[in-house]
Amino acid sequence: MTRVPYLVGVSGASGTPYAKAVLTALLAAGHPVDLVVSRAARLTLLDETGLAWHDSDADRAAWLGTHEGDVKHWGPGDLGAGPSSGSYVTRGMVVVPASTAAVAGIAQGLSKDLLQRAADVTLKERRRLVVVPRETPLNRTHLVALLALHDAGAVVLPASPAFYAGPTDLQQLVDFVAGRVLDALGVEHALYRRWTGDLGAARRSESET
Ligand SMILES: Cc1cc2nc3c(=O)[nH]c(=O)nc-3n(C[C@H](O)[C@H](O)[C@H](O)COP(=O)(O)O)c2cc1C
Repeated sequence: MTRVPYLVGVSGASGTPYAKAVLTALLAAGHPVDLVVSRAARLTLLDETGLAWHDSDADRAAWLGTHEGDVKHWGPGDLGAGPSSGSYVTRGMVVVPASTAAVAGIAQGLSKDLLQRAADVTLKERRRLVVVPRETPLNRTHLVALLALHDAGAVVLPASPAFYAGPTDLQQLVDFVAGRVLDALGVEHALYRRWTGDLGAARRSESET
């Protein structure tokens, strides 16, 4: 059977826990994943997890806490990698978190590294691209680039957790964003409690437990 992975691009914005939650959920759902970590994301990974990232299975196991799952690592400078060609079939791509630099680069088709090239390819092949920007506040340049991504067919999905699901800890806030990413990719999950139209339901069920 042909391996058809989801592409996960991790760029150098704060928010590596979002990337970890998305990766963990895709793997738990049984999907193969191709992973591209930008050079700047090595700094955010070091800052936020203490991990010195070198695109290895051992790094991934240390980050995700497991060796389980089918993950292929591609280096950010490897412009000859599979995902740099449209003939390399994928189910789509998520850039999580997306730096403003990655947003601008993808919006303008710069392809300055494999992450940006793979996102560009995903758009040109009319595959699903989900971009999870993490910056605040946003200037006009950021907003224009995000609009360009939207117009090019990407789903712009800000790292913006909601509170209607009744989060009681940090991981639940992270999982809400990861769950919305999986929704956008069309992958089933149980990462957050969905809105049912019942005001206060999440709060009530929390106080019952
Ligand atoms: C610790 C750290 C945190 C950063 N956080 C953000 C952020 O939240 N959002 C952002 O857009 N850029 C952030 N940056 C800046 C980006 O890393 C920088 O713009 C870089 O060029 C992005 O490159 P990339 O898109 O190739 O990963 C951060 C940088 C560092 C070192």
